[in-house]
Amino acid sequence: MSQPPHRSGTTHFGFRDVPAGEKQKLVGQVFTSVARRYDLMNDLMSLGIHRAWKRYFTATCQVKPGDRVLDLAGGTGDIAALLRPRVGDAGTIVLGDINAGMLSVGRDRLTDRGLVAGLEYVQCNAEKLPFPDASFDLVTMAFGLRNVTDKDAALGEIARVLRVGGQARVLEFSEVRADWFKPVYDFHSFKVLPRLGRLFAGDADSYRYLAESIRKHPPQEELRTMMEAAGLSRCGYVDLNGGIVAVHTGYRV
Ligand SMILES: C[S@@+](CC[C@H](N)C(=O)[O-])C[C@H]1O[C@@H](n2cnc3c(N)ncnc32)[C@H](O)[C@@H]1O
Repeated sequence: MSQPPHRSGTTHFGFRDVPAGEKQKLVGQVFTSVARRYDLMNDLMSLGIHRAWKRYFTATCQVKPGDRVLDLAGGTGDIAALLRPRVGDAGTIVLGDINAGMLSVGRDRLTDRGLVAGLEYVQCNAEKLPFPDASFDLVTMAFGLRNVTDKDAALGEIARVLRVGGQARVLEFSEVRADWFKPVYDFHSFKVLPRLGRLFAGDADSYRYLAESIRKHPPQEELRTMMEAAGLSRCGYVDLNGGIVAVHTGYRV
């Protein structure tokens, strides 16, 4: 189960308890280490399925031409690339990520694809966003919330920067439902992932962290409750692939 940070001055970093103030630095080291191999590793680890998850996630977002969108933990730009056509020439997508390396890989990839106009890049911590209240129509966060030390603070910030009627969407690993699948999933997570990490990214530890952080992340109902407590309304979720990931939605009313 997940645990709130700061209660005892510690939080989890994967399966390890660490001082809450240190998690951000440790997560930063993970993403700085994997930034250049991040896309390849995503394809290898998920057999390419992460692309379908992201397509579903963006295709079902509430967004229209001219909207201003914040893609938090925007990392390598996958979500921004998929949403870009939907906001049109009059719209803007701001990629916000705490890690300069991930943002720079994202900017290069989007630029290589000819995606320049209407995109902004801001290095920021989701727990304390440098944007005014009510400044976005949609805030997305894909595979980012799990890494944040104070998830309640990040969800509160998402609610704060949304305009009334705006939508919050979180795509994140979640809790697998089928009991028969759990051992298979555990084998993949704890045996296969670190080996893939060592072979293709020269880094087994970061991929061990990935598997552990998924197990520590709040499962579906708990995250739904957290989003409501953060000030979002009509919160709900959809499981994909039996709960390997879940798409959470909430609104600012
Ligand atoms: C697994 S990557 C996801 C990247 C991208 N959204 C995707 O789906 O491919 C997680 C990202 O979260 C970012 N991140 C971690 N903690 C963060 C925080 N507190 N605030 C903002 N971004 C954060 C990392 O730097 C990293 O780029």
